[in-house]
Amino acid sequence: MTHAAVVDALTAPFALSGRDLAFAYGEGQPIFEAVSLDVRPREIVALLGGSGCGKSSLLRVLAKLAEPTRGEVEFLGQPLTAPHPRAALVFQQPSLLPWLNVAGNVGFGLDFSHQPEIDRAALEARVREALEAVSLSGHDKLYPAQLSGGMAQRVALARALAREPQLLLADEPFSALDAITRAEMQTLLVELVHRWHTAALLVTHDIDEAILVADRILLMGRTQPTQPARVLHEWSVSIERPREDHAAEVTALRLDILAALHSLRHT
Ligand SMILES: Nc1ncnc2c1ncn2[C@@H]1O[C@H](COP(=O)(O)OP(=O)(O)OP(=O)(O)O)[C@@H](O)[C@H]1O
Ligand SMILES: [Mg+2]
Repeated sequence: MTHAAVVDALTAPFALSGRDLAFAYGEGQPIFEAVSLDVRPREIVALLGGSGCGKSSLLRVLAKLAEPTRGEVEFLGQPLTAPHPRAALVFQQPSLLPWLNVAGNVGFGLDFSHQPEIDRAALEARVREALEAVSLSGHDKLYPAQLSGGMAQRVALARALAREPQLLLADEPFSALDAITRAEMQTLLVELVHRWHTAALLVTHDIDEAILVADRILLMGRTQPTQPARVLHEWSVSIERPREDHAAEVTALRLDILAALHSLRHT
């Protein structure tokens, strides 16, 4: 990056911007179209929508793992042309490498050539710090087969954090976890986004999860079954944290989102 580009990146109002995005698999009908969205630094945006409406496909387009058929993606104010090392992905399954221990999994790939250069000591320090952030410091020598689901997902989160991401793109990262672990992970995500000054786009099916963690909620869907999906509704969530303490406001927003979801069902 040139000096000017670095300054632009540091002062960019948005960590991530998608402009007028459309996407189709092969020659098929577009899955979604006219999708524009922004995520600001330290902001968590949740993306809700029915199964199959294209949330995961949109996340892949925003990460540049798939090419949009139309539109552009900007990362920190710069056009994104390939996956960026400071934009980290977390998926529903932690997908750890079974032959590496926890520390090995968190550090894996950090010294690959497309990553910013890093020496051994710095790499170890990053791994240590990321494991501390997800409360797994004493577990760095364990292997994936020895971890519970919640621990494995925390390792996946640490692996993302070790990249010092300015953007986290997470696709239903907590949906396979039990209710208590899930609630812990939601709190952790909010803390980490604030503490590490990252931005997050969280795909979820769970309205309550969206309300508990997000600063803004987007609802993706189709107005007609044969139409490509779009972003149809947006809510700013200004409920004070911890949001569990504001049950009436949470309930009101939940009902509002449910009504929007139901209105899509009848199209
Ligand atoms: N590799 C692929 N090739 C062709 N079509 C695909 C492919 N992956 C997904 N699709 C189709 O694209 C549409 C959107 O899928 P996508 O996985 O993005 O939805 P989603 O909103 O993430 O769903 P879910 O909530 O179930 O995860 C679906 O109709 C799906 O069948
Ligand atoms: Mg999906």
